[in-house]
Amino acid sequence: MSEINRMDTPVCPHSVAEATLADPEVLECPFPTYELLREEAPVFQDPRTGLYVVTRYEDLRMICADTERFSNLRYSNDPAYHNANQKIAHRLFLEKGWVPGASLAARDDPDHKQMRSIFDKAFRPKRIDQLDPEVESLAYELIGRFIDDGHCNFVRQFAVPLPLIIICRQMGAKDEDIWQIKAWTDAWFRGTGFGLTEEQVIWCTQMEIQAQHFFQPIFERLRRAPDDTLLSDLVNTEVPGWGRPLNDNELHAEMMQDTFVGGSETTTNGLSAGIMLLARHQSVWEKLKSDPEKYLRTFCEEVVRLESPVQGLSRIAKVDVELHGVKISKGAAIDARFAAGNRDPRHFQRPDEIDLERKAAANHLGFSSGTHYCLGAPLARRELYWGFKAFIDHVDDFWMAEGKNNLRHYPNYALRALNELHIEFKRR
Ligand code: HEM
Repeated sequence: MSEINRMDTPVCPHSVAEATLADPEVLECPFPTYELLREEAPVFQDPRTGLYVVTRYEDLRMICADTERFSNLRYSNDPAYHNANQKIAHRLFLEKGWVPGASLAARDDPDHKQMRSIFDKAFRPKRIDQLDPEVESLAYELIGRFIDDGHCNFVRQFAVPLPLIIICRQMGAKDEDIWQIKAWTDAWFRGTGFGLTEEQVIWCTQMEIQAQHFFQPIFERLRRAPDDTLLSDLVNTEVPGWGRPLNDNELHAEMMQDTFVGGSETTTNGLSAGIMLLARHQSVWEKLKSDPEKYLRTFCEEVVRLESPVQGLSRIAKVDVELHGVKISKGAAIDARFAAGNRDPRHFQRPDEIDLERKAAANHLGFSSGTHYCLGAPLARRELYWGFKAFIDHVDDFWMAEGKNNLRHYPNYALRALNELHIEFKRR
């Protein structure tokens, strides 16, 4: 099983000198490159991006914990620091929409801690517990819509709608808005890619501005008439130390980045990745369905660890740092590659395998670590749990539909997203 979850012919650099992560073919299956870097160059300056890529588990934990030396301030709204594409987007936002403020994930303490406190309140455990029956019933309802067909595109018919409908309901949108919102988040996602042309930047920005005009009346309605949604709390709660709630620019950044992309795209990718892993590993599927009560929670953690829907995110060095003999200058960008740390054999035994009996399985970096630990992890875990549980309860056996899948991922540096997953099944 040591080759588990690797493509048949992934790009395998022969040496560190050939390595890069800025190549869509490498990102399609980055695991051999991660292994090479982890073993031979645990701090690696990628020649194509200039980023310092960090790949070992302990180093990643240290970076996430050490907020004195490593910052999350990865984007400035000051046009003086913008590249050409950022200047174009900034101008369009100013003219036609709202310049997005820094999102929660892109702030440092104490600013971050103050803002996080209103998110912690909105996402408090009791509130997330209350969502549990809704997640459960939606998962069974979605499966029920296609179970008699004997086949489905799991990504489109299940993995996208489950988390997106849940977050839509909490963000003041309606179930039927999901495909419009998906088009906007896809555009946002595309806008984070490398080497975009001016036209592509304009198109992505215009899509985001359309989304802003959709959300703005929702903010205004919730200010006039608060309700019991998560967004109502975010719109109306004063941030401690700021003397005011979030303004429109800050709310727009949250809607797109932290809630709709961060909070649904990621879970979608976890659900699709889990079903793909089960289709490829029959023995794991047999064991899982033999006793879901015993194995399902660990399976959810293993999916997030092995496939890491968020492959990596950046940090900025606040001071000159030296790590594994590599000098990183103040201001340089670091790529904290959580997905590589999640397969570090120094921390995980048989790291490339799905182990349904792994001890402390949740101790991975798929949700990051430290002060920016994923706010939505409790909700994501429920969505993964009920998504897979509904599948196990309805499906006796399943397999990939022949000739319909290319099993490619959407080309993106930070997120790992399966394009489609056509399966056929025998229902219970
Ligand atoms: C499988 C699903 C998910 C994965 C893999 C994931 C992963 C992550 C990661 C890696 C971070 C860390 C950012 C950093 O260290 O800079 C993060 C932060 C965050 N996530 Fe998630 N996430 C998931 C689901 C969700 C959901 C469902 C929500 C909300 C509805 C959410 C909201 C957030 C927010 C707001 C942050 C920023 C936290 C902060 O900076 O304090 N995520 N997530």
